[in-house]
Amino acid sequence: MNPKSDDSALTRVAAAQAQPNIALIKYWGKRDVALNLPVVGSLSITLDRLWTRTEVRFETGLDADRITLNGREDPKQLRRATACLDLLRSRAGLSTRARITSTNNFPTGAGLASSASGFAALVLAGDAALGLELSTAELSVLARRCSGSAARSIFGGYVEWARGERPDGEDSVARPILETDAWPLSVAVAITSMAEKAIGSTEGMNRTAETSPFQQAWIDTQEADLAEARAAIVARDFERLAVISEYSCLKMHALALAAKPGLLYWNAATVACMHRVRQLRAQGVPVFFTIDAGPQLKAVCEPAAAAAVAAALREVPGVLNVVETGLGGDAKLMDVAEAVAA
Ligand code: PMV
Repeated sequence: MNPKSDDSALTRVAAAQAQPNIALIKYWGKRDVALNLPVVGSLSITLDRLWTRTEVRFETGLDADRITLNGREDPKQLRRATACLDLLRSRAGLSTRARITSTNNFPTGAGLASSASGFAALVLAGDAALGLELSTAELSVLARRCSGSAARSIFGGYVEWARGERPDGEDSVARPILETDAWPLSVAVAITSMAEKAIGSTEGMNRTAETSPFQQAWIDTQEADLAEARAAIVARDFERLAVISEYSCLKMHALALAAKPGLLYWNAATVACMHRVRQLRAQGVPVFFTIDAGPQLKAVCEPAAAAAVAAALREVPGVLNVVETGLGGDAKLMDVAEAVAA
């Protein structure tokens, strides 16, 4: 029997774990919206303690995919998850629908890159369940099509996602540039709101591209920022990485703030945390901040400073919680029972 044939009564199931990643050199803007191709390359670190665990179970007889997120059936997530599984189904020549059971151990949709870990885990589990055995580069391309920054969560450590030149996007793929163990930095995530963000990244990027007067300058200056960050990482030069990362973060937010109407992802506590991190660095603590399309602040620091940085952020008014994490490894397959028990 052909193991991929549609009428097989076999249930195909697999589970995977992926961690969110945080861009130090930011992705903002799409050169192709349908294929999720970025206008710029980007560079990130993958986290350790935060994760998404996802089981994908293809079952004959289902008329549509089903998704349970954090213990609840969540039809809102269905359209994107189905579109993502369709990419895998078309590779496998299969139309069987699936039950997706996914858990995040951190807030979903609040600027903590849950879509990055979520779609990286979904693609990896789906690939294994269907027996496609795609390469990590192919998995990265597929994850990118589901959610841009998910391309980077296929890999651990320091990761660069290339803009690519090809119209079909096959060269817009992430690759690891340095392993976690080679430079194990720490991250303190200051959570300042548990609310889901009002304006998602796709809408924000499109509005920015259409209305921000700084869009071209953003595109024109990204290559130099990537080269500077790469050089800082290769040299394990913390101060150099701090300066270029804060620059890229603030430049992305300046670009988005200048859209019409302006995109303001920060709250008062986010700004207070930015000042606190800068104060600490001025006092000699090796720490810098970065912020994505949400109000949480991520403070990246040398491991020896992690406890002090987390303690300082916990004291900032409006900070609800601080999650401390190191840098993590590649997305990985896991035991099905363990993923569902998560
Ligand atoms: O991949 P998306 O659509 O969630 O966009 C991510 C955008 C930023 O987080 C703000 C920047 C980045 O490079 O991750």
